[in-house]
Amino acid sequence: MLMGKKILLGMTGGIAAYKIPDLVRRLKERGAQIRVVMTNNATQFITPLTLQTVSGFPVHLDFNPETENQINHIELARWADLILIAPATANFIAKLAHGFADDLLSTICLATTAQIAVAPAMNQQMWKAEVTQNNLNLLKKRSFLIFEPADGSQACGETGKGRLLESLQIIELIEIFYTKNTILKGKTVLITAGATREDLDPVRFISNRSSGKMGYAIAQAAQQAGAKVILISGKTNLTPPQFVDFIEVYSAQEMFDAVMKELEELKINIFIGTAAVADYRPIRSENQKIKKNQDIMTIELERTPDILANVAKLSPRPFVVGFAAETQEVEKYALSKLDKKNLDLIAANQVGIPNQGFDSDNNVLQVFWRDGSIELPHAPKSEIAKQLIEIIAKRFLMTF
Ligand code: PMT
Repeated sequence: MLMGKKILLGMTGGIAAYKIPDLVRRLKERGAQIRVVMTNNATQFITPLTLQTVSGFPVHLDFNPETENQINHIELARWADLILIAPATANFIAKLAHGFADDLLSTICLATTAQIAVAPAMNQQMWKAEVTQNNLNLLKKRSFLIFEPADGSQACGETGKGRLLESLQIIELIEIFYTKNTILKGKTVLITAGATREDLDPVRFISNRSSGKMGYAIAQAAQQAGAKVILISGKTNLTPPQFVDFIEVYSAQEMFDAVMKELEELKINIFIGTAAVADYRPIRSENQKIKKNQDIMTIELERTPDILANVAKLSPRPFVVGFAAETQEVEKYALSKLDKKNLDLIAANQVGIPNQGFDSDNNVLQVFWRDGSIELPHAPKSEIAKQLIEIIAKRFLMTF
């Protein structure tokens, strides 16, 4: 998959630099072409000769009148189809976020149209620092890929998040980048997933069986199709997919507020409501644990806002995709939701039977739009999600 790919590896000055020769060797084994640019600080940790030996090409150091004549920074910026900054220090991330161009590597980053991926490595406190997180958010907004660092013991003796990923993990993420298709390139997709929780008291809540698997798979498939993806999720046991903007919420109201905020702040092209949102919530949530001093207890419930229906009422509005989880008469109820909620498309699944629907790794979907339908037969949710995203993308491009 990496055969012939042109990867410019930018090294900045961190102790994790010792991992980079191994990364370069493995990338080369997979057929990638590698050129290395090192900042002055990077050369304090590892020599250019090491990188020259493993990459098979001279290493580009800071602006050098001699080499600048042979291959200048603009040529390097044009040559690459991916620029990977690894390790990326907090200082270099700050420079990228604010558009500094005061050395060869930052100048190349400013002059390129290639995708830039950043693999941070730093002390855990520096990683957590608000300013570092703000800088990373700025980069994410500009569609940089962030290869999130790992948790663990650090060279400084502390423990926490900030370790550079291992070579094979970085390569996996690079491969994800290259497998991406472009059907949703330039589009922004907002997805809800998982179950919401409606508190009765500090101990108990009303929820449902949704694990989030279907919604997370759809988020990953949309990201792989080239879209910028925002995933708003109830609490789950899952790890959010890579390169997806992730917002965790608790209740239906919080999910509603988060969805509306994103719709206000960003131009969302497609909205997909995969979440199993509570339809009702207790009228009151008690401050203290409810005592069991009655034989029969009645809890008064009220309707929650219908997120999907409200998104579909907006003007202008995104292409709106709903889900229907039904135990019977799937087609009838799905078509009625398509109509009543004024959706562009609905994906219906039968729930309450083994090996599909809630919490399963597999699913079966019947997809309906105004003048058509298609069945996606039993398959892993990752596969179903890819097929669904293709259908959504085609319908979106035809109708919007
Ligand atoms: O999460 P998993 O374990 O992988 O399971 C996947 C799934 C079964 C949860 C998923 O495939 C699915 O069917 N999701 C929708 C579940 C649901 O709540 O369906 P519904 O028929 O009750 O709701 C219809 C639509 O309205 C849904 O798109 C829902 O997100 C939306 N809705 C419902 C109520 C509400 N207050 N706001 C909403 O937006």
